[in-house]
Amino acid sequence: MAKLRLAVMISGSGTNLQALIDACAEADYPAEIQVVISNRPNAKGLERAQKAGIPAIAIDHKEFETREAFEDALHDCLKKHNTQLVCLAGFMRILNAEFVNRWRDRMINIHPSLLPSYKGLHTHERAIEDGVRFGGCTIHYVRPEMDNGPIIMQAAVPIAATETEESLAAKTLIYEHQMYPAAVRMIAEGKVRVSGQKVVFSDTDLGDTGLISPKI
Ligand code: GRF
Repeated sequence: MAKLRLAVMISGSGTNLQALIDACAEADYPAEIQVVISNRPNAKGLERAQKAGIPAIAIDHKEFETREAFEDALHDCLKKHNTQLVCLAGFMRILNAEFVNRWRDRMINIHPSLLPSYKGLHTHERAIEDGVRFGGCTIHYVRPEMDNGPIIMQAAVPIAATETEESLAAKTLIYEHQMYPAAVRMIAEGKVRVSGQKVVFSDTDLGDTGLISPKI
């Protein structure tokens, strides 16, 4: 079967991108990365892509007069690579509704909290300050409202009494790196469907999930 054609959009270090690169290196993985795009030309993730032999393209938002012009350039690049699924992985620009709607149900994001709690930035710091017992991470389809959209997969990460922002971020990233390839696999295998505000799964056992749901 043909592999699902991915584009990964990043702004920084790209450890989630790396998890996807590693997954795609497995012969039986049902997706492949066609292009990596960064809005920051010096993002470390671009080097990761180059090392893996994947086209690594900087589209610097600062070089465009308007957000629309920047997003048109993104869109053209995605089309040029025949993208079927856009994976936002630490992409730090807000995207206009027009762009998001062009990729509706074909664009996913990873966010370091248990959405709908802690949208936005500094999620770990805020969760620790509030004294909540679980942080986590979420993979969701992208909608125009920031950090919103049908939830595909979540992991809960216990917050210890001694937790720091750094330690919680590090613990959460371990789950992020497991979840992103798993969620993309489920999409590529046709097991994920958006129904209204929710994702429904076919052929997936959601029982006995431990801290990651659905089970991976
Ligand atoms: C991750 O914590 C992700 O959840 C958030 O941005 C961070 C990106 O990290 N959206 P990396 O660039 O993948 O290392």
